[in-house]
Amino acid sequence: MGKLAIVTGGNRGIGLALVRRLAREWQGTGEVYLTARDEALGRAAVAGLEAEGLLPLFHQLDVASPASIAAFAEHVRDRHGGVDVLLLNGAYAPRPDVPARLDARPMIETNNLGAHRMIEAFRPLLRDGARLVVVASGFGTLASLPPALHPRFLDPAPDAAAVDRIMSDYVTAAEAGSDAAEGWPAWVNAPSKVGQVALMRAVADDMRAEAEARDILVNAVCPGWTVTDATRVYLERDPRLIAKQPDEAAEDVIWLATLPPGTRAPYGELVRYRGILPFVPVPKPDAVPKG
Ligand SMILES: NC(=O)c1ccc[n+]([C@@H]2O[C@H](COP(=O)([O-])OP(=O)(O)OC[C@H]3O[C@@H](n4cnc5c(N)ncnc54)[C@H](OP(=O)(O)O)[C@@H]3O)[C@@H](O)[C@H]2O)c1
Repeated sequence: MGKLAIVTGGNRGIGLALVRRLAREWQGTGEVYLTARDEALGRAAVAGLEAEGLLPLFHQLDVASPASIAAFAEHVRDRHGGVDVLLLNGAYAPRPDVPARLDARPMIETNNLGAHRMIEAFRPLLRDGARLVVVASGFGTLASLPPALHPRFLDPAPDAAAVDRIMSDYVTAAEAGSDAAEGWPAWVNAPSKVGQVALMRAVADDMRAEAEARDILVNAVCPGWTVTDATRVYLERDPRLIAKQPDEAAEDVIWLATLPPGTRAPYGELVRYRGILPFVPVPKPDAVPKG
């Protein structure tokens, strides 16, 4: 039985690079699904990779649609029986200069509630030795939120359903205009990325015993600033931001997604450039209270 990987949002940007990298690495040993919410865009991306000599599989998948997730999970179960690498990369990109009032709902629905639905649908299909990676961001640590909001993510650590509730509360606040008063930052990407990492931590915690017994790893990853449609405007506005090309960014992500059998760490972590970004910010020495 060959290995099987799934990449969501595989038709462009980092997702396309992840498919390319894995399809190349696994030539002859495994298959990679390039999934896309738009069938035509997905098939065009597959054709592009075929022109490079690669042979990814294709399936339609809209992670904001429970029906689409269910259909693809059923397809994978019937056709392949399980999955070895699940890369949750597809994401609604926050629109520059659009207020959270307008962007919070589609963002949270896709990137947070959608990611949770994907994990619920595919968790039963994870094979022994599977690697589950949520493509999040360096904005996904609690350093992105004011201390007043930290207890919601820590005391006690929320399970996945509770993370969904926090994210839904955030959408309600953003649409009512009370998000700033509650301490949420103005840029919708920050709460959403913290929520993605909190979701991954909850799932990793819930799966710990099974993951240990079956050699499964669950992590989130920050690809680092990368030139894609999602970031082009920000990169043009701030020349201090140094960004990689997607194929370069894919290297460290695929390293995490293909850690060899028997690897037990990192587990339940946010990883960037093969190192751990602590979810709870480490206080700077001068911020430690004296006496
Ligand atoms: N680029 C960076 O610097 C950077 C940095 C840190 C983290 N990240 C994270 O890396 C991931 C990929 O980012 P990117 O820069 O490659 O973004 P991107 O260029 O905007 O590509 C996003 C991909 O997600 C797909 N997508 C959107 N909504 C979807 C849905 N409902 N179901 C399935 N797929 C959907 C898009 O498909 P369509 O073509 O149909 O829209 C596209 O293929 C995101 O999670 C992002 O937050 C990126």
